[in-house]
Amino acid sequence: MRDQAETLRLKMLKSQGELARSIAIVSGKGGVGKSNFSTNFAHALCLQGKKVIIVDMDIGMGNVHILLGMSSPYSLKDYLMGTREVSEVINDTPEGLAFISGGSGLDTVLEWSELMFERLLGAFEYLQKEYDFILFDMGAGATQRSIELIIAVDEVIVISTTEPTSITDAYSMMKFICLQDPNKKFHIVSNRVFKNEDGEDAVTRLQFAMQKFLQKETTVLGVLPEDPVVHKAVVGQRPFVLEYPNAPVSRRMLAIANSFADVKGEASQEKREGFLGKLRMMFTKGRG
Ligand SMILES: Nc1ncnc2c1ncn2[C@@H]1O[C@H](COP(=O)(O)OP(=O)(O)OP(=O)(O)O)[C@@H](O)[C@H]1O
Ligand SMILES: [Mg+2]
Repeated sequence: MRDQAETLRLKMLKSQGELARSIAIVSGKGGVGKSNFSTNFAHALCLQGKKVIIVDMDIGMGNVHILLGMSSPYSLKDYLMGTREVSEVINDTPEGLAFISGGSGLDTVLEWSELMFERLLGAFEYLQKEYDFILFDMGAGATQRSIELIIAVDEVIVISTTEPTSITDAYSMMKFICLQDPNKKFHIVSNRVFKNEDGEDAVTRLQFAMQKFLQKETTVLGVLPEDPVVHKAVVGQRPFVLEYPNAPVSRRMLAIANSFADVKGEASQEKREGFLGKLRMMFTKGRG
């Protein structure tokens, strides 16, 4: 495993606040807008001068590269399989957003091995030093592997729509994560909202349920409206914050990214300490 000097160096970097904030974008129910949120939120952070990378964890069914209008010769799978180095699977958009593609095509179903987790750990160590924000766009549903990763990151952004099924599933997902890691920092977003009050109501209910049943404080990041420019941006393969910066959904997204980047230091600095440590613990515990 890593030697002591490396551990010490990472500790020093952390104390200097130079390591990335790692964030998983999750939902209970699928198809609620995680990937569109990830790509646009990432660009909104880039517009503030942050160094951002999206890792598409939807391996084999990835669509981050498609939403960004980019092709990617290699994917995360190529890195995990050991055929490519991490630097070879990172791509940059012309606007300076970095991403690692999840790859598409059903042939890419991945059988996780111990060695792949080791490599994943190596990539995260590298990314943490290179970027300000690492965003993990998670696939639909909770597999054992995705839950392990979600537990390892510093913060979780939970996306829900205003539909009761989506709200219930978002709560179940947060509960599941929270029971395994009570210190996790949760941020809630309501997406595809037709009436602002409905979105406010959805996030308030989620926040209340977390408080009442799990004694867990969460932050509300905001409410994103249902907006036809999202579909247009998907078809045009260009992020809506760049293509339609004045659309209601873009204005909200830019405001959300602004407030998210602002809270930087305090809470996250301390929580951030967990990422590599937790990953390590997880990969050495009960495996092999
Ligand atoms: N605010 C919005 N307004 C209108 N349409 C939206 C909005 N957000 C997302 N959509 C639409 O919802 C659909 C699903 O979005 P997306 O692929 O981002 O969801 P997802 O949660 O990543 O799905 P999966 O769980 O399959 O990964 C897309 O067709 C997108 O155009
Ligand atoms: Mg997705």
